[in-house]
Amino acid sequence: MNQRNNRRLALFPVPFQGYINPKLHLAQILHDQGFSITILHTDLNSPDPSSHPHFTFRSISDGLRQSEASTSDGVRLMTLLNARCAAPFEERLREEVSSLDAPVTCLIADALFGFNRDAAERAGVRRMVLRTTGATSFRVLAGFRSLRGRGYLPIEESRLEDPVPEFPPIRVKDLPRITGEPELLDQILNDMIEGIKDSSGVILNTFEDLEQPALSLLRQEYPIAVFPIGPFHKCGPSSSGSLLAEDRSCISWLDKQAPNLVVYVSFGSIASVNDQQPFLWVIRPGSVSSSELLENLPSCFLEALEERGKIVKWAPQHEVLAHRAVGAFWTHNGWNSTLESISKGVLMICMPCFSDQNVNARFVSDVWRVGVHLNNGLERRKIAEAIRRLLRAARFKEKANSCLMQGGSSFQSLDGLANHILSSES
Ligand code: UDX
Repeated sequence: MNQRNNRRLALFPVPFQGYINPKLHLAQILHDQGFSITILHTDLNSPDPSSHPHFTFRSISDGLRQSEASTSDGVRLMTLLNARCAAPFEERLREEVSSLDAPVTCLIADALFGFNRDAAERAGVRRMVLRTTGATSFRVLAGFRSLRGRGYLPIEESRLEDPVPEFPPIRVKDLPRITGEPELLDQILNDMIEGIKDSSGVILNTFEDLEQPALSLLRQEYPIAVFPIGPFHKCGPSSSGSLLAEDRSCISWLDKQAPNLVVYVSFGSIASVNDQQPFLWVIRPGSVSSSELLENLPSCFLEALEERGKIVKWAPQHEVLAHRAVGAFWTHNGWNSTLESISKGVLMICMPCFSDQNVNARFVSDVWRVGVHLNNGLERRKIAEAIRRLLRAARFKEKANSCLMQGGSSFQSLDGLANHILSSES
């Protein structure tokens, strides 16, 4: 441990919730391994240092105007962040690397920040990459351009059910849906692939029992060390990276509900549920077109609703998924939510929206069989099938827990990662 204490690692997350959470959890995991941690962060969505008093925080000016930061065009926003952060990041990294006090010896970059590659090389610091999605969806995304070349993309309505033999059991309708200018997207994806290929190793928030086939192919395709050390979130408090305040009143509401009956609903869109079904629904501000939806609901309506349902703006998700009252998670299948659900053994009702979520949902329903796809509402037949899948969900929960225990695959991979960071070769 002493040797590790002298090593300082810098981590720089892409400033969105689904990237900040795994990065902070990874930082916590590495801190627990004895490394010192510096979190570099943009002005946009900067994390709360008081939640992590043992980390050092350094800000990187992103120079984004309010109108630029609030665009719904994710590809353009990533492009802007890549352009604006490159110079201030490099300057900060050089300072951190040459600090007399506690120099940074390894950068753990985010795969979507392409500039980290040149900056780390010029600063003379070793660079590893964190990819926050699963291994399967990473491979599909990395194949985006060739899928386009083979005519699978852009997705055509007439081909939705066609299989994509390169990535079984993916069908055309499961391929990543990413809107934005194709040239900008290509640049981001190209930088991601090249940046991983010539890094000192890639860290993934997944585990062998879940994604063994994809991990094995990834190891053949990328000539670098691959460290699947997930699920990360089991190593830190859930609230640590939340950008919105968690409404804990939903926990006392859950306490009053019968076991396994509540459906936890969380995705950025409008959904409807059967009027007999108790539900806890997260409506994040800005996630539906009427931004003040919750404020405009009369309080008598919300009070009457509490009999059967509860609506909050942001929930302590880990705690909700672990609650005895929660029987299912109606989710958009973001990778973090998918892993969190798997490791709590909660059955998923899948309603993916974009990006990697369709791939995640296909694997949840057809490969791991720990959830059901929601195509045209909640049919009775699907619910019966879902109940059968509950048993498998419990089995995967065991696997997600045992991989982190001494001798488990993620435990061993983490040990390998810690030694890899300490080793002198880059
Ligand atoms: C998106 C992609 O879908 C995801 O696959 C990619 O890895 C990152 O970008 P996002 O839409 O943010 O992610 O979803 P998800 O990956 O599920 O992350 C959401 C996080 O917010 C989870 O860690 C979840 O626990 C947390 N959350 C969500 C809360 O803490 N409270 C809530 O009410 C809702």
